[in-house]
Amino acid sequence: MDPAPEEAGTPDRLPRHVAIIMDGNGRWARARGLPRYAGHREGLRAVRRIVEHSVERGIGVLTLFAFSSENWARPPMEVRMLMKLFMSALRAEVRRLNENRVRLRIIGERSAFAPRLQRQIAEAERLTAGNDALLLQIAANYGGRWDITQAARALAEAVQAGTLAPQAIDEAALAARLSFADQPDPDLFIRTGGERRISNFVLWQAAYAELYFCDSLWPDFDATAYDLALADFARRQRRFGRTGEQLETGEARP
Ligand code: FPP
Repeated sequence: MDPAPEEAGTPDRLPRHVAIIMDGNGRWARARGLPRYAGHREGLRAVRRIVEHSVERGIGVLTLFAFSSENWARPPMEVRMLMKLFMSALRAEVRRLNENRVRLRIIGERSAFAPRLQRQIAEAERLTAGNDALLLQIAANYGGRWDITQAARALAEAVQAGTLAPQAIDEAALAARLSFADQPDPDLFIRTGGERRISNFVLWQAAYAELYFCDSLWPDFDATAYDLALADFARRQRRFGRTGEQLETGEARP
């Protein structure tokens, strides 16, 4: 039987880090005879709701996939519209995020963004750097393969500089150079919009994430739908490669 949504808040079964692919904005708009950007605008409202609810629930890190490395291939008008939305959202939301003690971090290849957007990002990160209610990570021009590739490049540079021996390259050395190496890996990976794909999101970091797919289109995803995902997570037995018996006899997680 499904647990009641309120069980989702049980602290010992709460994910520390939730990563979300916010899919379905375009379909939400099409179903209403609206242009795609109207779906993205409504998607931003859902972002606000889910950020607030994450703070209420006591989630430590929330990572949202806002713009993938592959999204540049969308029609130029939609890309322009998304960039405008990011800029205006940064301007409009940062003060409120700050008041709610939310720290903002943008992950991804930011050098591809307009200099003005890059400056705005740096300023928003600086302003919110000391906040501790929630770390909100927005993945923008991000791809899981890009992340692993840039970490590999950083390893190669360290070897070339003579500060790292090739023999010292192990999983920990690579993981330390990924985008949010200072945070725990996502425990719960949610994708809205009915598709069951990871779509080049946090590939390395989601190795042991619990996957949760739901049919709600992102603009419809609300606190109740989020609580259902958290409740589903609370029921999962996370084994990290061990057996169920090992966990039942109390052998600790590696
Ligand atoms: C995927 O839906 C959504 C995106 C590529 C953009 C996500 C952007 C937002 C939620 C709004 C702004 C967010 C921030 C953080 C400023 P889709 O367009 O692929 O939908 P479809 O599959 O129905 O076409």
